[in-house]
Amino acid sequence: MHWRSCKYEAFRIMRKWSHKFMTSDQSPSVFVFRQLSNCRNTMEAADSPRKDSPATPEENSTKKGLRTVNGVQYDFNDPRFAGMGTRAIKRLLKQEHWEATRDERTKIQREKQRRKKEERQKLVEEGVLEPRPKRQRHQEMSLSNVGVVIDCAFTSYMSEKELHSMQSQIVHCYSKNRTAPLSMKTSITSFDEALRTTFDKKTSSWTNWKNVDFLTETYDEKFDKDNLIYLSADSDNVAHELEDGKTYIIGGIVDKNRYKGLCQNKAVEQGIKTAQLPIGEYIHMASRKVLTVNQVYEIMLKWLEYRDWKRAFMDVIPLRKLKESVIVDPKQEEAGSEEQKAEKGEAEEAIDAPQANEDDADSKEKEATT
Ligand SMILES: C[S@@+](CC[C@H](N)C(=O)[O-])C[C@H]1O[C@@H](n2cnc3c(N)ncnc32)[C@H](O)[C@@H]1O
Repeated sequence: MHWRSCKYEAFRIMRKWSHKFMTSDQSPSVFVFRQLSNCRNTMEAADSPRKDSPATPEENSTKKGLRTVNGVQYDFNDPRFAGMGTRAIKRLLKQEHWEATRDERTKIQREKQRRKKEERQKLVEEGVLEPRPKRQRHQEMSLSNVGVVIDCAFTSYMSEKELHSMQSQIVHCYSKNRTAPLSMKTSITSFDEALRTTFDKKTSSWTNWKNVDFLTETYDEKFDKDNLIYLSADSDNVAHELEDGKTYIIGGIVDKNRYKGLCQNKAVEQGIKTAQLPIGEYIHMASRKVLTVNQVYEIMLKWLEYRDWKRAFMDVIPLRKLKESVIVDPKQEEAGSEEQKAEKGEAEEAIDAPQANEDDADSKEKEATT
């Protein structure tokens, strides 16, 4: 027994039996010591192997390795858990249980929704509630002339967790595209086995998605290179608008900034134009301007709706990121740059600054806004 459990056991015994040693002439420490000795004897007896009779289920449950998770007993010494810690095994078993009970949960959820719908319908009939406005049907959705490709050629760069997150982000994009006033024709390229399996597991309805093509091919096999623009926070070009007839590529990767410049370099190598979103013109971000796939996708949808980048950014970029950032006031920015120009002019007149210093200042200013 570890000394900490021993100490805990001593306290437990003192608390439980305090009424006894208050009345007996035995000192508390002697009393606790005796109780602990009894406890140790019992444990040693339980630990020693029995040759005569097989272990009862109760004894089994106290044996190291046998644990109950979600009401089912598992042997944690099973070779399939080899090399895994207790927590990891529990997490795995819980995940398996969650997957196994998916149908059951869906059934309960559907039943709950059906009941809710019936109750609501009743209230509408009684005039208590207004009927819901009719949802825009898919066929009535307007499709813009701007296309999107989510380039999923990076599954080998991601952990399983990141792959799951990537899949959720694509689901998110799809759901936003369905309800947007102007939607975008979307293609998921380099859709490989790993991603397909994740989709099958998590969102089996993907095969019925409208306006989305799942392609095993790469984007350059399917699209005319001249109409492609790879979006990348690392690009030197800025997309001031989304052009009709163009297809914008979003790098389908969740990498927590591990692979800086990955998509930019890929596009440059393939001779495909690149552009970053004009975030720096509207928001001076405290952190890097790298957004997630679904955020970029949603910003594009919002731009198509408002034709206003600032509104699009403010609608989509999470509040927590905005809080740490400075929102640019275009008027102040203009006045500021006039002042800067004037100051710069004066400085240039006063000191004949070397060209390198000017370049330095320029690149520093750029760094601050990107
Ligand atoms: C999580 S980022 C991937 C970052 C990755 N390290 C890379 O090399 O791009 C996912 C994708 O969103 C798009 N993206 C993110 N932030 C962007 C920005 N500020 N401007 C343009 N595209 C952006 C890019 O297409 C990028 O590949």
